[in-house]
Amino acid sequence: MLHEVVKKSSPLPSNSKILIFGGGFSGQHIANVARKLGAEVLCSRRDNTKKGADFAFDSTVNKLISEKIFHGVTHIISCIPPAKNGEDPVLKHYGQIIQKIPIKWAGYLSTTGVYGDYQGNWVTEQSDVHPRQQRSIRRLACEKEWESLGIPLQILRLPGIYGPGRSALESISAQKNSMVYKPGQVFSRIHIDDIAGSIIHLINLFEDKICPKVINIADNLPATNIEVLSFAANLLDKPLPPIESFEDASKKMSPMALSFWQENRKVSNKQLCNKLGYKLIHTDYKDGLKDCLKCNL
Ligand SMILES: NC(=O)c1ccc[n+]([C@@H]2O[C@H](COP(=O)([O-])OP(=O)(O)OC[C@H]3O[C@@H](n4cnc5c(N)ncnc54)[C@H](OP(=O)(O)O)[C@@H]3O)[C@@H](O)[C@H]2O)c1
Repeated sequence: MLHEVVKKSSPLPSNSKILIFGGGFSGQHIANVARKLGAEVLCSRRDNTKKGADFAFDSTVNKLISEKIFHGVTHIISCIPPAKNGEDPVLKHYGQIIQKIPIKWAGYLSTTGVYGDYQGNWVTEQSDVHPRQQRSIRRLACEKEWESLGIPLQILRLPGIYGPGRSALESISAQKNSMVYKPGQVFSRIHIDDIAGSIIHLINLFEDKICPKVINIADNLPATNIEVLSFAANLLDKPLPPIESFEDASKKMSPMALSFWQENRKVSNKQLCNKLGYKLIHTDYKDGLKDCLKCNL
């Protein structure tokens, strides 16, 4: 919940002006938190009539922004995924400007898909990256492009993002899901409160020159799809969806859905939570889903 993140976060450095590319699910939440903590925030969406849009930016139709927007910007956050051709939409148009302006910090929201398959084992920031999916190969290339700018940058690797309005509660309410059973398969997750909370934490640490290049942002408890959906069904007091074997379910899955089931890893948050001292607001999916339910009421 927004007020929980704000309550536990330190104020942002004075005169912070944050430019957020991609005010979608995570971007808007980060924007709302940062504003409450005293920053000026400008957020893009592809259509500036959409909720949360301060300016329009759509790389696919060359809907571009005025360079004036960059004036006085201290922090940049990109929440926009790579384009289908592999280009980073932000860097394609604004890489040179971003390289020139004196920003204090930039955060690039990436995915833990860059690690590839670890057969259910833990991955840390030191684990080798060997992406197998095309979209993860593109993502790793975009990470490298952001790194090559030579700006004060942190790459934030995220597993499955959920929060109010986009969680297992909605899957249960829509009654379309079966619970897929694939022995040993787990997924890591992160609630949007902890994406926003950890970004504020990292920005403040960066001021003190504590600045690892890559950070996993995940909760403490990787879990199976059945555990999460069952917990959501119980919270909503709805019947459990039927269990279906992966073998059967996979025949009906979209290529995108199937790709998620083809990789298995647990994402370690030890660097973020032990070394960098971030305290999770939602330590696991149970706490996170209870929060989603409260927000939906
Ligand atoms: N969802 C997950 O479970 C997950 C997991 C790991 C990592 N990630 C990555 O983390 C980031 C944030 O995730 P999210 O779920 O919050 O994303 P999201 O809700 O899908 O938001 C993506 C944002 O990017 C904008 N965008 C997309 N293509 C664009 C283009 N070509 N030009 C300009 N803007 C464009 C969208 O514009 P509109 O607002 O107009 O739609 C939206 O604001 C993304 O890079 C995502 O791929 C997501």
